[in-house]
Amino acid sequence: MHPSAEAIEASVAAAYSAGLQQQGGANADYIPYLAKVPSQLFGIAVMTVDSALFTAGDSGFAFAIESISKLFTLALVTELIGPRAVRDKIGASATGLPFNSVMALELYKGKPLSPLVNAGAIATASLVPGADANACWAQILDVQSRFVGHPLALCDELNESEQSTNSHNRAIGWLLQSAGTCYSDPMRSVDIYTRQCSTLITSADLAAAGATLATGGVNPLSRQRVVGAANVPHLLAEMTMEGLYTSSGDWAYEVGLPAKSGVGGGVLAVAPGKLAIAAFAPPLDDAGNSVRGQFAVAHIAKALGLNLYAVPES
Ligand code: DON
Repeated sequence: MHPSAEAIEASVAAAYSAGLQQQGGANADYIPYLAKVPSQLFGIAVMTVDSALFTAGDSGFAFAIESISKLFTLALVTELIGPRAVRDKIGASATGLPFNSVMALELYKGKPLSPLVNAGAIATASLVPGADANACWAQILDVQSRFVGHPLALCDELNESEQSTNSHNRAIGWLLQSAGTCYSDPMRSVDIYTRQCSTLITSADLAAAGATLATGGVNPLSRQRVVGAANVPHLLAEMTMEGLYTSSGDWAYEVGLPAKSGVGGGVLAVAPGKLAIAAFAPPLDDAGNSVRGQFAVAHIAKALGLNLYAVPES
């Protein structure tokens, strides 16, 4: 059953006021741009498959997309090479290790296991075809824009902040290359991965992107197909396995919805066929997930009875 507009509105308002009480966490500080985003910002947005939007707080504030971009590049590459090749070349399992782990690569013979950790996302970026980095980047920006339903843009200040501090990711790029799991020039792949993390997105945009998955691949605002319906379950499965990194299992256990986070403070969850829930608040927990963002999304999912593993009472 689809939640009513009244129920969604009430759940968003309740999650916002309860979320304001949640303290703890800290802004990501390894990327200088992120360290200076005001920590008290807090936004929530829900979009249904019919494009109805419900918001609270700073839902129009544009924040760094960061790792949520991994999902959209994965969608692009899955469309281009198919889900079987994605699983063969990158994987569809959790690493059980932090998002930027190099140990995971050592353990699994250079196979990243998931396109939603840094190694897997760099490998995914390496599969975007193009004559040069700009040509690859244009396709990634285009798919991000189609997911949200309007043009997004690179934030130059954020990109410079990321590009000048991404030596760990460049090391991952070379490790992938040495293992044979980087499928084009490793430094070009890291460059476009870094750019894809550097667009700005609002909570309302993020909800629209999630609603695009909830419909089965059609953006509810533009009504354009962004991803094939047959590929959507694979994307949602990848989110379930690694979307919240080392917290993904606990999230599945407690909330039961595929989700994806970024160190910019964004969190997105998808209730297939129904709606998407997005939230943003910069302070992160130790796994790299927004404290208030997770709280708000979980609160709404619970209030609306969206757990995919819940068995309806007969
Ligand atoms: O590659 C990085 O470290 C960042 N640009 C993005 C990481 C990220 O968002 C992980 N998320 N929780």
